[in-house]
Amino acid sequence: MCGIMGCVGKSGRKSVIEVILDGLEKQEYRGYDSAGVALRCADGVKNIKIVGRVSELVKRVEECASECAGTQSGIGHTRWATHGAVTVTNAHPHESCDGMVTLVHNGIIENSREIRARLEADGIKFVTETDTESPCQLLARIYSGDARSAMSELCRSLVGAFALVIMFRDRPNEIWCARTASPLVVAADGSASYCASDPTALLDYTHDLFFIEEGEMAELTPNGVRFFDFDGTSHGKSPIHLDWDSVMTDKGRYDHFMRKEIEEQPDVLRLTVDTHTSLTNVDMGKSIGLPADMMKNIRRLQFVACGTSHYATLVARDIIESLDNSLDIRADVASEYRYRNVPGGADTLAVFVSQSGETADTLAAARLARSLGTNCIAVTNVRGSTIDREVEHTILSLAGPEIGVAATKTFTGQITILTLLALYLLKEKGSLSASDEARLIGGLRSLPAKLQAILEDEPHIRALAKKHSGSKGFFFIGRRESVPLTMEGALKLKEIAYLPSEAYPAGEMKHGPIAMLDEKLTVVALVPGGDLSDKTLSNVEECRARSAPIIILTTEDNDDARDFGDDVISVPRTEREFFPFVGLIPLQLFAYHIARELGRDIDKPRNLAKSVTVE
Ligand code: M6R
Repeated sequence: MCGIMGCVGKSGRKSVIEVILDGLEKQEYRGYDSAGVALRCADGVKNIKIVGRVSELVKRVEECASECAGTQSGIGHTRWATHGAVTVTNAHPHESCDGMVTLVHNGIIENSREIRARLEADGIKFVTETDTESPCQLLARIYSGDARSAMSELCRSLVGAFALVIMFRDRPNEIWCARTASPLVVAADGSASYCASDPTALLDYTHDLFFIEEGEMAELTPNGVRFFDFDGTSHGKSPIHLDWDSVMTDKGRYDHFMRKEIEEQPDVLRLTVDTHTSLTNVDMGKSIGLPADMMKNIRRLQFVACGTSHYATLVARDIIESLDNSLDIRADVASEYRYRNVPGGADTLAVFVSQSGETADTLAAARLARSLGTNCIAVTNVRGSTIDREVEHTILSLAGPEIGVAATKTFTGQITILTLLALYLLKEKGSLSASDEARLIGGLRSLPAKLQAILEDEPHIRALAKKHSGSKGFFFIGRRESVPLTMEGALKLKEIAYLPSEAYPAGEMKHGPIAMLDEKLTVVALVPGGDLSDKTLSNVEECRARSAPIIILTTEDNDDARDFGDDVISVPRTEREFFPFVGLIPLQLFAYHIARELGRDIDKPRNLAKSVTVE
């Protein structure tokens, strides 16, 4: 929630203003209600803020170019509103009433009201409705020439989540940062120092990044970065090397990042399988670093995640159950797990899945599990993210940076990693036969080519999307291995097309949802060939009898299914457990093209942000 950028010094190829605006553009997926920059120019700090997108801010900054000449440092922000309406006044950066402090913030200051009341009683005039103005005014009140001790006192007075980036009026060559809960990464290249919420905003300058820890502050100058604890003690720190290519964060020839990222899925799958298998063997021992005998003793397996990542865990649960039903498996959304009386301990393995590695609920759930002595593994796409640093054992999903707010290729990365983890776990427990291992790894290896073939069916899916874009809503139905996919298909339509769409296990339709069906509500039925096909087709028949238009998504071997749909999408046959891999792309493309038809903002859907760093 919210993207932050800061730069001080002389960045090689770009001006400080370009660095900040580029960084905001790259992080706009984090929030896009309003945006602003504070630039230290020859005659003081110029604060420019707008309601709207970063592109609007760029225009405003261009209009002010003459006033901003020679900018040597600056900070910027793109906002996802939490406290206070979307207005220019509430947009960041905020300035203290005496002009001494200019500050941007990501997070929520929980004691902002108390701070505000105290300062207002002392005569300080607040001008915004935000929680952020409180630390800004408070810091100005505390500061008397010693930035380190003022920052230290400020950070120790705040309750809640914050990544703060700050300029002091009388310290032109410094930017100060601090963090609790919300992500913040800094870097230096010898002539300038930078900070951002997301590492992708810094990759044009360096790949060696310092991830700010909980309770850590940093001082950025053109010569480098110094790190401190909240008590003001300085300490050293080593960078983490991130080998993402900055080209990966470029939209290239595509109209939308989402479309580009959909197309990258065969490569993500291939790379992940190649990384963790050799011919017919899965080996994740080195990547996880968990002692093998510990794996043998696991009785309980808990998957914990949010949103699309949660649906990925449901795919893994099905795969494990299909091979070994002796494990006690649960898959919870993190916002529930963290408040429940969950079991834990040495015989429990909890797997926390988060693309960003910054989702507040998933992090809190992992902290809870660790406090119970549960063995924990994180699966994340971002090396150096909070979850990567906090959880002892991390497996990286190898999807590369995902910019579109709607998760696509990272879902494929997650289900691939989780499938391999499932096989590895069962193998270590002695409940995966060599023939099943070879069969399933062979199945995984055959998937990239199948995904490629499905991508070529895009014109057909686009035509279906056009035909159904006028529907008042969608029901996605399926059974067993298809159920997680019904959820993901429905979520994609909600988030990028803003259409009512629900997912139901097909057998549940008669228990209520079927009452909603009529000729304006489209049913998308996921009916791969196999043991449950006939049962699902009976449910489809019941929907047809209520006049609902039907789209059947099936596998090429399932001839029976074709007659049941007004429209049919056919995908290659797979191992029964792997239907989610091949069923996914048509659903992503379907949502994408409906959203296009409806003129939606596909990469930055309204009200959403890619990283949900507050509860
Ligand atoms: O970064 P995470 O995987 O922890 O994020 C979890 C959800 O916020 C995320 O999957 C969200 O549901 C996606 N935008 C859906 O496309």
